[in-house]
Amino acid sequence: MVKLKLERQRKGFNRLAAIYDYLLLIPPGRGFIKSQNELIPLLPQKKSCLIIGGGTGTFLRSLIISGKVTRIVYLDISEKMLSQASNKIKDLNQKCNVEFRRGSLDRITEDEKFDLIVTNFFLDLFSPDEVKAWIRLIHNKLSEEGLFYFTDLQISRGKTFKTFMNNIYIKMLYFFFRNTTAISGKTLIDLRTEILQSGFNVVYEKGYLKELFYSAIFKKRS
Ligand SMILES: C[S@@+](CC[C@H](N)C(=O)[O-])C[C@H]1O[C@@H](n2cnc3c(N)ncnc32)[C@H](O)[C@@H]1O
Repeated sequence: MVKLKLERQRKGFNRLAAIYDYLLLIPPGRGFIKSQNELIPLLPQKKSCLIIGGGTGTFLRSLIISGKVTRIVYLDISEKMLSQASNKIKDLNQKCNVEFRRGSLDRITEDEKFDLIVTNFFLDLFSPDEVKAWIRLIHNKLSEEGLFYFTDLQISRGKTFKTFMNNIYIKMLYFFFRNTTAISGKTLIDLRTEILQSGFNVVYEKGYLKELFYSAIFKKRS
């Protein structure tokens, strides 16, 4: 059952891979890129990094250029996304070792630990129980001083026209992704609260475009 679901998601994201970057040209699509890149300068130097659901590689490219990490495991369920990401970095000559790994959480081995784990616009794809499982995994796979770099959409609070439009936009995105990629998330949950309740503290955080996008660096609570 789980395998079947993952297979449908793989096929869905494979179909999306070719047009994914073009979709981000439709406003407010640039916010997806800007929000996930903005906190990179605040990252300390780290050795190993795991990027989960990295997609077409825009963030990967920026992270490599920043020179903040020396080794990256780039995990994605879609081989087409991986191939786009690999193409996007081939002209770079920075010293960073990137391993592209196709699959899901089962592709991270028992003994692996990372100093930095990144999820950008990834946790919103899942049901509340699956989100909990992913955050548990991230907590478990981070080294003692490890950091969790997170960017995602967030529900806008308040009753202004802008917050109303933001929430309509989020609903449209769910409709689109559920129909094209068979994701299991039905609606956006409060991911920030979920992360804080799962043993993390905020190191930095920032909202973008009237808080439609949220980006943060978290640290494990000791
Ligand atoms: C919405 S896209 C986000 C891509 C990128 N992080 C960005 O911000 O543009 C979600 C990505 O997660 C990948 N993905 C979906 N389900 C996955 C899973 N269970 N395990 C690993 N990757 C997955 C998809 O192939 C896709 O590349």
